[in-house]
Amino acid sequence: MNNAVKLDKIHKKFGEFEAVKEVSFSVPEGKCVSLLGPNGAGKTTSLKMIMGLLKPSSGELEILGAQANEINHHIKSRIGLVPQDDNLDPDLTVEENLYVFGSYYGLKKEFIKEQTTKVLEFVSLADRRKAKISELSGGMRRRISFARALVSDPDLVILDEPTTGLDPQARHMLWQKVRNLKAEGKTILLTTHYMDEAERLSDLIVLVDHGQVIAKGSPRELIKEHVEPHVFEAEKPLPQGLEKFRNEDIGESVLIYSTDLSPEKKLGTFHHRPANLEDVFLKLTGRSLRESN
Ligand SMILES: Nc1ncnc2c1ncn2[C@@H]1O[C@H](COP(=O)(O)OP(=O)(O)OP(=O)(O)O)[C@@H](O)[C@H]1O
Ligand SMILES: [Mg+2]
Repeated sequence: MNNAVKLDKIHKKFGEFEAVKEVSFSVPEGKCVSLLGPNGAGKTTSLKMIMGLLKPSSGELEILGAQANEINHHIKSRIGLVPQDDNLDPDLTVEENLYVFGSYYGLKKEFIKEQTTKVLEFVSLADRRKAKISELSGGMRRRISFARALVSDPDLVILDEPTTGLDPQARHMLWQKVRNLKAEGKTILLTTHYMDEAERLSDLIVLVDHGQVIAKGSPRELIKEHVEPHVFEAEKPLPQGLEKFRNEDIGESVLIYSTDLSPEKKLGTFHHRPANLEDVFLKLTGRSLRESN
């Protein structure tokens, strides 16, 4: 299978600070790969290098068959990006924003017009075509950013926290749209802090911390490999008799990890759930809040 994206020992330094340290991973064509990690882990920096917006300090990068130094306008037009921070022009209308974006990539006027109709329907905002960006809600802007990323009908769609600020319905809609894009054969590279989202959508997870890859695998493989299958949530402090189980302090309560259902005798069935990707994240990245590295 061909890779749409391949990073090989990529480093990125900002002055003395190394934000990305020897990151290697691939995104196979037609798959959805999620790049997960705590705040400041180096996800956006990695995506910006893939987009050609930042130059790696060292390492090899291959995007849609082109090496880093060959990433030209044409290659860029085959990549659609939803940036972490919306950069729509607030003074222009939705339609004008999409038009400016499309013409930047040299797309024909008629094509942009057709695509605008299509992508606005795709995000259920066709009725806002003539609205100014400044008149839209935060969640609507997020959806317009998603629509804009699709104007050029890209082969590779890069989504940097696309559902942040979306209501539950809009989030479900976006998940469905990501699945539709995959069904059309497009490749998806996603970052998100919602582990349920990553678990639902991804074929492969790349977990990064402090600029380094710390785990790779399908959601199911990672859960199986790294965490006990049963999780119980109890009020703090850790109930007596459960000390032998691995536990994670998550603030007001404590998670108890077990290979069997024995903690049920003490805690009942109500607080029992199967292990999920969030448990993998908590275990491998530690729980302490990341405000800086
Ligand atoms: N232009 C820059 N100059 C200096 N440092 C930077 C720059 N861009 C990012 N960094 C630093 O690189 C590190 C990684 O930042 P990055 O934006 O890639 O994190 P992230 O994984 O996307 O985090 P988040 O989940 O908060 O979006 C951070 O410590 C950040 O402060
Ligand atoms: Mg980021």
